This record gives sequence, C-alpha cells and structure tokens, in this order.
Amino acid sequence: MIYADITGWGRCLPPAVLSNADIETLMDTSNEWIVSRTGIQERRISHVTNAELARVASTRALAAAGISAEQVDMIAFATSTPDECIPNTASILQNALGASNAAAVDINAACTGFVYSFNMMSDMIRAGSIKTALVVGSERLSSLMNWSLRESAILFGDGAGAIVLQASDNEAGFVAGKLGCVPDTRELLAVPDFGLDAIAQFRPLDVSIVFSGQEIFKKAVKGMGDACEAVVAEAGLGLDDLDLIIPHQANARIVEAVVRRIGGDMDKVVLTLDKYANTSTSSIPIALIEALEQGRVKPGMNILFTAFGAGLTWGASLLKWGERVTPLGETDISLPPTDKTGLDLINAAIARRQAYEQTN
Ligand code: ACO
Repeated sequence: MIYADITGWGRCLPPAVLSNADIETLMDTSNEWIVSRTGIQERRISHVTNAELARVASTRALAAAGISAEQVDMIAFATSTPDECIPNTASILQNALGASNAAAVDINAACTGFVYSFNMMSDMIRAGSIKTALVVGSERLSSLMNWSLRESAILFGDGAGAIVLQASDNEAGFVAGKLGCVPDTRELLAVPDFGLDAIAQFRPLDVSIVFSGQEIFKKAVKGMGDACEAVVAEAGLGLDDLDLIIPHQANARIVEAVVRRIGGDMDKVVLTLDKYANTSTSSIPIALIEALEQGRVKPGMNILFTAFGAGLTWGASLLKWGERVTPLGETDISLPPTDKTGLDLINAAIARRQAYEQTN
C-alpha cells in the first residue's frame, strides 16, 4: 500500500495589514458589525503577485520537506485569482522554483480548491502515478475587490499556503475524501466579467464579487456538514476520533454552524480568520501551518479539512498526520519589503479603478 504523507509545509502572509478600523475609513461599516457577523478583525493585502506569494510559501514547504524543486513530479496550484489564465499560474511557479521535472496545473474550484487539489494529488500518489506533489493554495483576492461594496469588501484577504505530499510506506496522510458541487447555484457567488464572455463582447472591465450571503451560508453548512459526515463514516471513525478540524475560513458563524450540525467540538477547530479573513484556497493550509507552529498537531492525529466555494463547490478530506511535526529544514526566503500599509495599497487600488472608470 502506498500512502501520501504530508512531509513539508510553508505559508506566506504579506506584511501589510488592513484592519476593520482602516475599512471604516473607506465605507459605511463598523468594526462591531464585521466582528459580530464574521469574526474577522483584520486581513493582509499583498504588494506582490499571486505567484510570488506562492513562490515564498512553496520554497518554505520544500525546505521543510528537505527536498529540492527538481524532485517535484506535479504542482497543483489551487487559485481563483490567477495572475494569468494562459499559460497557467502553476507554470509561473514551476519556473520560479526551478521545478523542471514537474507537471503544472491550476485547479479552480473556488474556495474548495485546496481540498480538491489535496484529494486529487493524494489519489495520484496512492495510485502510483506520481511520487511527489506540491499542493498550493494561493490568492490575491484584494485585486478583485470593489471597495464600494461593503457586503463583500470586508470579507477577504491575501495569502498563500503550500504542502509537499510524498509517497510513503508509513500509514499517514489522506484517508478519505468527498467532493461535490451543488447544481444550479452558480449565480449565488460569482465574479461576472472576469473571463472570455466579457472580453468577446468588449465590455469594459468591471470586476466585483457578487453573492447572496444568506443562501450561501445555508448551502455551505449543508455541503460541508454532509461531506464531513461522509468522510468520517468512510474512514470507519466516530466524531470523537477527530483530533483537529481545519475548515475553510469564510465566516466564524458558518464554522460554528457546521461544527454544531455534525456534533463536533469547537475546541478542536483551528480558526485564523480573525487575523487573515477569507483567503479562499489558501485558508486551510494557512490554518494547518498555524496549528503546526502552535504545537497543536501531534503525530498520528486524525485531521479533517472541509471547504465550500463558488460553484457552489464543497468537499472534505480526512487525513492521519505522520510522525514528524517539525520542518526538516528552513530557508531565509522572504517577500521583497514594502513600506506601504494595507490602507495605502487599497487607496492606490481605488484611485486606479476611478481613473480606469473615467476613461471607459
Ligand atoms: N457593514 C455594515 N452593514 C452591512 C455590511 C457591512 N460591511 N454588509 C452588509 N450590511 C448590512 C446589509 O446591508 C443589511 O442591511 P439591511 O438589513 O438594512 O438590509 C444587513 O447588514 C444584514 O445583511 P445580511 O446580508 O443579512 O447579513 P448577514 O448576517 O447574512 O451577514 C455575510 C452577511 C457575512 C456575508 C454572511 O451572509 C455570510 O458570511 N455568508 C456566507 C459567506 C459568503 O458568502 N462569503 C463570501 C463568499 S466566498 C467563499 O468563501 C465561498
């Protein structure tokens, strides 16, 4: 039997912080509303590209696994915010890392992209078709924000997380997975005009995230709840056997509702959305690495990932952590410095958008 063990991990959070108090200066909202409805207190805003965030996270993950980039057989780059569509962002990362032997694919399942990628890459390793995969969730969602829409602009942040999966004889890694997509819900959460449809009709760029928050809320709780129950049952476990629950970090109230629905224990949940908000595909690896750094991950633990996203996609993964909870190696790689605050970066983006709107 071949297992797909997690042997390396790294994350990259850009340094510029945008607090709820900063957002109060941009729109009619309040720290009290944002914290009570979402649990979010601040988020990070990137001054670099998505691929650059991913490069730093991935370099750290490779160092933690103690392997070189040439040893990677496949890069699965989960993102909803590609720097370019053609060629894919995975190939930018492949070149930046020097992963010359790797296949490179972008995976777009919106915020569920990391869970989809983790399950798919684990299955490829377990089937014997590859030995080493780099699974990345990386997003620069701040670039998609319309800062005049208070219902969406408060929710998101930038960041990247990466893990290395390696074939192993040790019983560790992926145990069970369940993926799905709710039919006829595409319109509940979307970024219209961010694709060929708009380009073909020469419509001016007018990118905004639009969504029906309460409908998504209900479907997210059902989708994640069903997926969690399915993977726990498939693994022959009970809920008490779960040691850590690492959910997609969209909204603290959604997480609480999922955990309540499956009869889980909030003490086992890893939450980072107060500091980083919803970072889409990167929210689960960022939270996993936070748990590792805090010593919350122990050898042999049963860990549950679960996520939902536009589509509406949903999924869960159950894994058994291996023996090692510390990195094999470290790297001094970091992002280029910036003296800009989160508010500086957003005010500059707003000015660019206004200038564009005046000329189109
Ligand atoms: N500040 C102040 N008031 C606000 C804000 C804001 N930022 N945003 C909305 N409001 C107002 C609304 O205008 C509304 O006012 P009204 O009652 O006068 O009409 C009121 O607050 C309540 O709005 P609701 O949408 O009912 O608020 P709700 O409690 O549902 O919370 C939220 C909204 C946080 C978006 C929630 O529905 C949610 O988390 N939904 C699911 C998550 C989601 O959709 N995430 C984005 C998708 S990304 C992903 O991860 C898949």
